[in-house]
Amino acid sequence: MADLLTLFPPGSARDDDGMLTLGGCRADALAEEFGTPVLVVDEPALRARAREYRTELTARWPRSRVVFASKAFPATAVQRVMVEEGLGLDVAGGGEIITALKAGIDPALIVHHGNAKTDDEIALAVEHGVGLVVVDNANDVDRLEASGANVDVLVRVIPGVTADTHAHVLTGHEGSKFGLLPADAAPLIARIERSPRLRMRGLHVHVGSQILDVEPFADSVAPVAALGEFEVYDLGGGLGARYTYADHPPSVPEYLDALIGAAREHLPAEAEIIIEPGRSMVAANAATLYRVVTLKRQFVAVDGGMGDNLEVALFDQRFEAAIAGRLGGGERYTLVGRHCESGDVLVDGVELDAPRVGDLVAMPATGAYCHTMANNYNGNRRIPVVFAGAGEARAVVRRETWDDLLARDV
Ligand SMILES: Cc1ncc(COP(=O)(O)O)c(C=O)c1O
Repeated sequence: MADLLTLFPPGSARDDDGMLTLGGCRADALAEEFGTPVLVVDEPALRARAREYRTELTARWPRSRVVFASKAFPATAVQRVMVEEGLGLDVAGGGEIITALKAGIDPALIVHHGNAKTDDEIALAVEHGVGLVVVDNANDVDRLEASGANVDVLVRVIPGVTADTHAHVLTGHEGSKFGLLPADAAPLIARIERSPRLRMRGLHVHVGSQILDVEPFADSVAPVAALGEFEVYDLGGGLGARYTYADHPPSVPEYLDALIGAAREHLPAEAEIIIEPGRSMVAANAATLYRVVTLKRQFVAVDGGMGDNLEVALFDQRFEAAIAGRLGGGERYTLVGRHCESGDVLVDGVELDAPRVGDLVAMPATGAYCHTMANNYNGNRRIPVVFAGAGEARAVVRRETWDDLLARDV
């Protein structure tokens, strides 16, 4: 029982009658007020994580910045928390620039990514004075030069490092669609250095996501360093999160000891280091509450599924879950969603204590990429995001309405 609580945001507890509390709010009260499914973020825990990242990085490399990878939870309210905690924002796409600006970011603290940045996106970045554009390919340079603006750039390098994670979230291997092999990066760097408008500030590397050991991060530094000395090295994100009892991701200090250890060995001491955590910033600080709708054989079907959590279908991510009022124990069930796919399984084989229609199911560690990839499959209305803390809760993203579903019809 204690074990399961450790997968929920820090500070989660069981009330006197056994009901799960998140951010000091009872799960049943949250479900009553905001409906289900609902994605609940423990706001104090989120802020604490952002501060931990900043403090630990600065302690190891004072000339450094933490830039939150917005894609992991691209809600304006989450981006605003990061801005308020002194972080920059990594954006990958025009929409994330728009929400980052609404969140109050100083555009100079935005790092703009993408392997297929369109003319419009480059124009948006330039118009708003985005701090760093990460060049992924030669076409990016064509577009940036055509914009006529003065732009600071990093060049994304493939380090040729493979990490032990799902192939769909690997990005540092030689066959990656992201970035440039060192042999291709070198002439593009030379071209940028000759450009009258572009300023070659440094290099970027990102080895992938949900990485549960530190070696790949450390290994990615030397290949980048081999391309020369620059002012800035952005060493990406990728630290794994804890989804199941079996996951033991490195702590932020352990991760940074390895990464900054490699930086001390290979990078110029006066350089600035940026890191871009996404998943490990947000995953563990949120949970989703569902309502049980039907029971049949081994199946417990809830009122959500792949419309609010695509992580399972996309890369087989294993989650845990429990009846919110009876955490831990019980028989093994297959927790499924309501969508028209046999692959719409939330947890394949999870112990639930005597599930009944109407029970609340709580699924921890849904803070990363779930809101991101929420969709309207089967006319699903995308679910709300609620911030909870100190016993108070407020919606920061409302549930979609039927009218929202019709809003784009012409
Ligand atoms: C360039 C870049 N930086 C940072 C991240 C964040 O990765 P993660 O959420 O695994 O920390 C990603 C996501 O894959 C990325 O593509």
